[in-house]
Amino acid sequence: MFQWSKKYETGSGFIDDNHKKLFEIGCDILMRTQSASNEIDTSYFNNALKDFITYAKFSFSIEEDYMSEIEYTGFVDHRREHYFFIKRLCYYDFDEIITNKETLQRLFEFIYSWLDQHMISEDLKLFSKQL
Ligand SMILES: [Fe+2]
Repeated sequence: MFQWSKKYETGSGFIDDNHKKLFEIGCDILMRTQSASNEIDTSYFNNALKDFITYAKFSFSIEEDYMSEIEYTGFVDHRREHYFFIKRLCYYDFDEIITNKETLQRLFEFIYSWLDQHMISEDLKLFSKQL
């Protein structure tokens, strides 16, 4: 999970760097989850998850600015996907999730699978690498 691959490359260095950074943050949190002893550092995970969401919002806003600039026809649908991802993350009760390694692991499986699918479909489409 969270391994960068050429299949995600959009051709825009700036967008790719943002996506790599999201993967790095996700990978760091996941590794820390897996290596955590029974005593989970809830303060770390709470802050790390908030940092992840903040960076995801930043990364999405850059894409949305670009879509707006080029008057991208798929703008509304693409932005809606970003919105639902962030909204879903915000619905999680992090205080509850971070007390349990299994629920943390499941949360990151969801995050990774969403990013993987979104980058391969919507983000590549935006840069005309697919369809
Ligand atoms: Fe996107």
